[in-house]
Amino acid sequence: MSPRVAVYPGSFDPIHNGHLDIIERCRPLFDEIVIGVLANEEKRALFSVEERVEIIREIVVGQGAIRVESFSGLLVDFMERVGARVVVRGLRAVSDFEYEMQMALMNRHLNPRVETVFMMPKEVYSYLSSRLVKEVFGLGGDLSGLVPATVLLRLRRRLGASARPEATAG
Ligand code: PNS
Repeated sequence: MSPRVAVYPGSFDPIHNGHLDIIERCRPLFDEIVIGVLANEEKRALFSVEERVEIIREIVVGQGAIRVESFSGLLVDFMERVGARVVVRGLRAVSDFEYEMQMALMNRHLNPRVETVFMMPKEVYSYLSSRLVKEVFGLGGDLSGLVPATVLLRLRRRLGASARPEATAG
């Protein structure tokens, strides 16, 4: 039987605990998980794709059967390259559903062998997004319990000077 390989794609700008919760839930279900970091030229990212890959690798280091790769172009082509048939996406709320369904059906149109699996993160992360992480950090809000330590450190390095003082303290 061929190994069950899943791709968990996203912008991950930056990765947060909601993403990590989904990865954790995937681990018993697949033989290999490939975290696919989108190199999206048109979206202005805070962290470069190389930094986003580096951050995630730092977090998942030593966790067997997880790979982190960047990709550009079509997700289905990336999946073909890494030998995956399953896309994993997190669903936080009903508001995510429409966009996710469009993507799932488009990916199926592009490659009928591709299946999308939706997973619900732990409720405490249901309001969490990378956009809010950046906004809250920039305004000096408390992100403890919401992002891994390395992300907080990188945010301080990147935005520290412009973020409100209480965000950079400690
Ligand atoms: O975390 P995000 O930004 O919601 O992730 C979106 C992502 C990376 C899954 C999506 O933009 C994507 O798959 N982009 C690759 C381009 C592609 O394949 N587009 C057509 C299928 S919808």
